[in-house]
Amino acid sequence: MEKLEQLYEGKAKKVFKTDNKDHLIVSYKDDATAFNGLKKGTIAGKGEINNLMSNQLFAYLEENGIETHYVETIDSRNTVVKCVEIVPLEVIVRNVAAGSFSKRLGVEEGTVFEQPTVEFSYKNDDLGDPLINDSFAIALKLATQEEIDEIKSMALRVNELLKAYFLRANIKLIDFKLEFGRFHGRIILADEISPDTCRLWDKETNEKLDKDRFRRDLGNIEGAYSEVRSRLGF
Ligand code: TMP
Repeated sequence: MEKLEQLYEGKAKKVFKTDNKDHLIVSYKDDATAFNGLKKGTIAGKGEINNLMSNQLFAYLEENGIETHYVETIDSRNTVVKCVEIVPLEVIVRNVAAGSFSKRLGVEEGTVFEQPTVEFSYKNDDLGDPLINDSFAIALKLATQEEIDEIKSMALRVNELLKAYFLRANIKLIDFKLEFGRFHGRIILADEISPDTCRLWDKETNEKLDKDRFRRDLGNIEGAYSEVRSRLGF
């Protein structure tokens, strides 16, 4: 499949049309941003790792009954995906307190929840992706109640599947962000699942193996991404 016109360039990926109206090509970059683009940098090899990791995880989720936008890997940075209409929500699932949860609510990082939380942010860079709830999402016409129910139930199922998958690699899944899209009337999983969009901690030492190393200037960023790659075996 060939790249046609570029439709969009985001912070971490470019998106191209193809000759199939149902398919796009996403091309992963090494660019990294944080704090709504205020902090900028490059993580060498990140595009390759995020592409191959997302595709491996999407294939695993598909085998377990979750429909995703993944179609086929072209090469280490480029993938064919279904052309979805993105629901403008960042869907965040948490198993352990960290990041904005800890900051906003004064809960120590590492506090384990009895059951996972699900939250929504409105995907809107001008507003800084504000936290919203179900009724706000409906008022803003971002999704219907039925779609929100489906998104929450898929997100929790994805959490159970991913937690088990990462544990086999001695990694704890602390939290992560998903995006969903509409495809021929169905809600399917889209975007990416990578160290950019998950918090991943070593099971024994709690060492951070994700983008928090970039956000918080913890060093050894490339090393952490490579460690995840080698543990997941791709
Ligand atoms: P948070 O604690 O900063 O709200 O982040 C929760 C999770 O969502 C964490 O795994 C990182 C991920 N995330 C993104 O993928 N994109 C974003 O823009 C933000 C803020 C977080």
